[in-house]
Amino acid sequence: MESTETNNAESQSTLAISLNNIEYKYKSKATSPDLTIPQWDLKRGQQVFLYGDSGSGKTTLLNLLAGVLTPSAGVIKIFDRAFSSLSARQRDKFRARHIGVVFQQFNLIPYLSVLKNIQLADYFASTKRKDIIDSAQALLSKLKMPASVLNKRASELSVGQQQRVAIARALINQPELLLVDEPTSALDASARDAFMKVLVETCAAANTTMVFVSHDMSLQDYFETSIAMPLLSQSSSSQEGLK
Ligand SMILES: Nc1ncnc2c1ncn2[C@@H]1O[C@H](COP(=O)(O)OP(=O)(O)OP(=O)(O)O)[C@@H](O)[C@H]1O
Ligand SMILES: [Mg+2]
Repeated sequence: MESTETNNAESQSTLAISLNNIEYKYKSKATSPDLTIPQWDLKRGQQVFLYGDSGSGKTTLLNLLAGVLTPSAGVIKIFDRAFSSLSARQRDKFRARHIGVVFQQFNLIPYLSVLKNIQLADYFASTKRKDIIDSAQALLSKLKMPASVLNKRASELSVGQQQRVAIARALINQPELLLVDEPTSALDASARDAFMKVLVETCAAANTTMVFVSHDMSLQDYFETSIAMPLLSQSSSSQEGLK
């Protein structure tokens, strides 16, 4: 694990994400890549709203940033580590400790309880926190879910409830980077508002960097920065104020 950690504070830049000459092909023999990003940076602590047409590569980008996919060409740095050249095992460890992910399909384990699903994040990060139940309860309560839901199986929840459990699981380890893909599509207006507030407040309080993907343009009001796919040779800071 130590090999993926940087202990020398002086070597740390202000960047959370740095992408250079990224290409991703779902089929290695394809003539043109499914996603191309010449250069893109995101500063630590920045929270951005990422939007774009269906098929423009938003989910592919988040999967690259999460290390679920590795680029066909180019370098991805996350908090100064050359993330894309780590082994799959190192990437898994790094993700468990530093990155919270809410996928478009929430990837809850259906036969496990809500609490067990949330505890998995702690298990994979090997943090063995003693306050995990209290923290899970506090997060779910902020997300307007009753405490009784903790002991329900994930498969017994509504889609909107599953979405909120997925976000609680992503936040429980207080990640430095949070990647969120279309998280509010199944929520009603009041749950959506509670969800967005918890998300933005939690990230601001912990200086968490966030990339938030949605088709729902009304949600960009929660963000200082909006960015459109495809990402061209610009840093996110130079695109501020697009909204
Ligand atoms: N598993 C896959 N196998 C092959 N091609 C894929 C796969 N997933 C995505 N693609 C292709 O990669 C491109 C980008 O897809 P991606 O899912 O990243 O788009 P998106 O912006 O997230 O779209 P949406 O808004 O519909 O979620 C599309 O052309 C898509 O067809
Ligand atoms: Mg998508």
